Amino acid sequence: MTKFTAAKIMSACVDSTSALLYISILLLIIKISTAIDTINTTQSIRDIDGDSMVSADGSFKMGFFSPGSSKNRYLGIWFNKVSVMTVVWVANREIPLTNSSGVLRVTGEGLLVLLNHNESIIWSSNASRSARFPVAQLLDSGNLVVKEEDDNDLENSLWQSFDYPCDTLLAGMKMGRNSITGFDRHLTSWKTTDDPSRGNFTFRFDPSGYPEQILTENSIRRYRSGPWNGLRFGGPQLRPNPVYKYEFVFNDKEIFFRYQLLNNSILSRLVLTQTGDVRRLTWSDETGIWAFYLTLIVDDCNRYALCGAYGSCDINNSPACGCLKGFLPKVPRTWDMMNWSDGCARRTPLNCTGDVFQRYSGVKLPETRKSWFNKSMNLEQCKSLCMKNCSCTAYANLDIREGGSGCLLWFSDLIDIRQFNDNGQDIYIRMAASEQDHNDEEGTKSNKTKHTRIIVISVVSAGMLLLGIVLVLLVRKKKQQKGRKVTGILEGRRDDTCKEDPELQLFDLGTITCVTNNFSLTNKLGEGGFGPVYKGILEDGQEIAVKRLSKSSRQGLDEFKNEVMHIAKLQHRNLVKLLGCCMEADERMLIYEFMPKKSLDIFIFDRTHSALLDWPQRYHIINGIARGLLYLHQDSRLRIIHRDLKASNILLDNSMNPKISDFGLARSFEENETEANTKRVVGTYGYISPEYAIDGIYSVKSDVFSFGVLVLEIVNGNRNRRFCHPDHNLNLLGHAWRLFTEGRSSELITEPIAESCNLSEALRSIHVGLLCVQCHPNDRPSMSSVVLMLSGEGKLPQPKQPGFFTERTLVEANSSSVKNTSCSVNDSTITLLEAR
Ligand SMILES: *[C@@H]1O[C@H](CO)[C@@H](O)[C@H](O)[C@H]1NC(C)=O
Ligand SMILES: *[C@@H]1O[C@H](CO)[C@@H](O)[C@H](O)[C@H]1NC(C)=O
Ligand SMILES: *[C@@H]1O[C@H](CO)[C@@H](O)[C@H](O)[C@H]1NC(C)=O
Ligand SMILES: *[C@@H]1O[C@H](CO)[C@@H](O)[C@H](O)[C@H]1NC(C)=O
Repeated sequence: MTKFTAAKIMSACVDSTSALLYISILLLIIKISTAIDTINTTQSIRDIDGDSMVSADGSFKMGFFSPGSSKNRYLGIWFNKVSVMTVVWVANREIPLTNSSGVLRVTGEGLLVLLNHNESIIWSSNASRSARFPVAQLLDSGNLVVKEEDDNDLENSLWQSFDYPCDTLLAGMKMGRNSITGFDRHLTSWKTTDDPSRGNFTFRFDPSGYPEQILTENSIRRYRSGPWNGLRFGGPQLRPNPVYKYEFVFNDKEIFFRYQLLNNSILSRLVLTQTGDVRRLTWSDETGIWAFYLTLIVDDCNRYALCGAYGSCDINNSPACGCLKGFLPKVPRTWDMMNWSDGCARRTPLNCTGDVFQRYSGVKLPETRKSWFNKSMNLEQCKSLCMKNCSCTAYANLDIREGGSGCLLWFSDLIDIRQFNDNGQDIYIRMAASEQDHNDEEGTKSNKTKHTRIIVISVVSAGMLLLGIVLVLLVRKKKQQKGRKVTGILEGRRDDTCKEDPELQLFDLGTITCVTNNFSLTNKLGEGGFGPVYKGILEDGQEIAVKRLSKSSRQGLDEFKNEVMHIAKLQHRNLVKLLGCCMEADERMLIYEFMPKKSLDIFIFDRTHSALLDWPQRYHIINGIARGLLYLHQDSRLRIIHRDLKASNILLDNSMNPKISDFGLARSFEENETEANTKRVVGTYGYISPEYAIDGIYSVKSDVFSFGVLVLEIVNGNRNRRFCHPDHNLNLLGHAWRLFTEGRSSELITEPIAESCNLSEALRSIHVGLLCVQCHPNDRPSMSSVVLMLSGEGKLPQPKQPGFFTERTLVEANSSSVKNTSCSVNDSTITLLEAR
């Protein structure tokens, strides 16, 4: 609140000591433990329940609360009829009360003020006019209003909490802006569960061009809804449904989105989470939880501008990004490395007067920040207007109802297009005239080349063939010709591991020591493959994870070099990103992007955390790991076998995107080399494939095995290795296999997700998991087949018996030759010396 307002109330409070004024002031007091001057309550407040206030129908409650484990106190409104404390609005979100006293008061002018123990104002509402007989009332909708006592018209209220949303949009609230005053109602995430102050994420309407909802993180765009097309925003999320109806209002005065519940006995809310997702949740009395109804950020293609200008994202493709027809990658080198942000450029430049328009169907329309619109024009008029102006890049209908109406024109590069097919719409993009003919010819030509690119990737069993499109075949060929010069790094002088790689940033020791608080224990995140990992925050605010090589470790040094060599060359959204390294004095350190959610094992194996990871997220994680692994095995510059894939090596970013980490044991292999042999078996019990543990033979199929184990663990929530069951002594693989053969796979699904999950997806994942852990490597599918099988609908081949489905197999197989058999380790990486 502004100082001015605060001062005014203060003086009002001081004045109020004079008896005359005092009487005219209606005061509402909500006290916490210590009673301060309890003065009066108004008629309109039905229930003052000691220190809180309940709406007339009992659905919302207002009072003081402490979020999470915090001791600070806040004035808030929450659902009164649910068993989980669910706060929907906070008054003093930036300035908490630090002890148990606090008073909320309505002043004579109609302002709400929140006073702390020394009577100073820490929060206040404001009003455009002063009132005669102001009262405050908590309505059944959850709206706290200040109004004239005898005026029940909400439009005339002096102030309402619905105008100042926090992270939650309740039914009836407007999200949007007043075009005349510029007053903007938007959502801002909480900082943490313990701290309701404004976090990094906001969700609001961008009024420039044709309005769209935009989700930003620290002012950087992360997601956009797409323009309203008469029925919904661009995307499948909003649909007629049994829970709520919605409207989008856009006129000269205001722009807003609002929803209303169809049945008021259903409790539903839309919330901007601390991780930057917008979710609709509905309360379920039976389960006692807020069930997930929909999410805005359904997949990677919803990430803002993932594919750059003129790129198009199709989640059913791998890789997901492609260029629009008639466009080519602007920087082919980075594009091939799956860094798509540079986008695509026209194959043939425009020459303005002779240009034509090419139709693209089924898309989410590009960003409308630099667009122009007219609601009454038709498509023909729209086209001719666009044709006349050389800087107009595309046009489309505004409203898709009744055959289409209205005109939307773009005057910039087209950004953030995705392919939706059923839920998308048509856009007409300006192209050089020659390109149109070219495209028509190409239609047939590219079909032919496509055919040559379609390769039968794997014949998994007699029943079924899976076709896969190896898009990167040509690219890889090119790379092969270039040869592999990186091996030099391994042989290079000890101190040059980092310096030899021009793509890596070198950090100096002083900086790293400083940002990790001199490697203090409080900054320590855990132990990685070859030493401790610390958290640090660079001067520019970037959070980093610092992996420090233990000084004594010789094996560590090899792993360190190995990791630098491998990961520096890789770039994929499902691999953790190496920012640089630090080599000074005796120190060897790798600097990574920091992953706030830590690793997957924390979520899936822990009862309490497990509930936080619902099925869509788990499925997203499974798919992400599969894509990351596919990239390693097939699409990356070096073809790489990870060799230590496990839950603790899968890190999670803020949006729960999985990132494969820890390349200390990784090996690259030549194109024509399908398996290799090692004397030193490394990896982690529970995830090692039989042929590797027993014979020391590893191939991409060893990673496929580990992936299969991981999938079953994600579905089941138990570690393969420590799995135990009253009926048998099989491990998780054995258990899954047994249930599968008995047709009872659904029993494998872990409790917290069993209710909410998409059964067919979960069963498919289990099935794919079992295919991956088959005993014989040749039976296991390649990762490209896995990615296809996970996303496809078709029938899957029958898996054979898994390898290592009892714990004993491994121990027996190795007992004669294994020196290091202290197996009571908790999933730490082991080295079996000379296991061959
Ligand atoms: C009330 O305060 C908010 C936030 O400080 C401000 O945006 C708004 O314009 C104010 N409204 C009035 C009527 O003064
Ligand atoms: C609203 O939902 C409740 C509980 O599910 C149900 O009993 C009631 O009939 C519904 N009311 C309407 C109007 O559909
Ligand atoms: C929109 O188009 C209609 C029909 O062509 C025209 O009459 C009207 O003036 C246009 N409105 C604006 C704001 O350009
Ligand atoms: C083309 O459109 C842009 C953006 O609306 C405008 O600034 C420019 O003046 C127009 N040019 C012509 C020739 O109409």
